[in-house]
Amino acid sequence: MLKWIGPGEQARAEILELRRAVLRRPLGLEFSPQDLAAEKDDWWLALWDEGLLSGCLLIRDRGQKTAQMRQVAVAEGRRGRGLGRRMVEEAEALCRRRGFRKIILHAREDAVEFYRRLGYQTEGEAFIEIGLKHRLMAKGL
Ligand SMILES: CC(C)(COP(=O)(O)OP(=O)(O)OC[C@H]1O[C@@H](n2cnc3c(N)ncnc32)[C@H](O)[C@@H]1OP(=O)(O)O)[C@@H](O)C(=O)NCCC(=O)NCCS
Repeated sequence: MLKWIGPGEQARAEILELRRAVLRRPLGLEFSPQDLAAEKDDWWLALWDEGLLSGCLLIRDRGQKTAQMRQVAVAEGRRGRGLGRRMVEEAEALCRRRGFRKIILHAREDAVEFYRRLGYQTEGEAFIEIGLKHRLMAKGL
C-alpha cells in the first residue's frame, strides 16, 4: 500500500526511523535538526508491504516547476521486488498532477542504475555528499 503522509501523522516518525536505518546509520551519520526542520513541507510517501513499512521517499518543491526526489529507501530484505520502482512511479504521477515538469535527484553511485532504469539521466560530474560519490540525475515529466 502506498500512502502520502501529511505533517503531524504518526507514520512520519516510523518513516524517519526507516530512513535512519537505511540511509544514515550504515554511514555512522544522523540527521541534523536543520535537515529535519527543512523537511516539514516536503511530501512524504510511504509504502507498506505485507503490513510492514518497507519504503519511503520525499519530494521537495525546488521552484521553476522542478521537484527534487530525496531519501529514497527500501528496507533491506525487501529490495529487488519492484517496491522502489512503485514508489518512484507514484511520486512522478503526483508531480505531474501538480504541474511539475521535471524531477531532479542526487543519486548515490550505487543507485545510479536503478534510476537509469526508471528513465533518469545523469547530468554533470560526480560530487561528494555525506561522504559518498553522487551524480545529479533528472527526468522530464
Ligand atoms: C536503490 C533502492 C531504492 C532500489 O529499490 P528496489 O526496491 O530494490 O528497486 P526495484 O526492485 O524497484 O528495482 C527497479 C529496477 O532497478 C533495478 N535495480 C534496483 N537496484 C539496483 C541497483 N542497485 N543496481 C542496479 N540495478 C538496480 C532492478 O533490477 C529493477 O530493474 P528492472 O525493472 O529493469 O527489472 C534500494 O536498493 C535501496 O533502498 N538502497 C539503499 C538506499 C539507497 O541507496 N537509496 C538511494 C539513495 S540515492
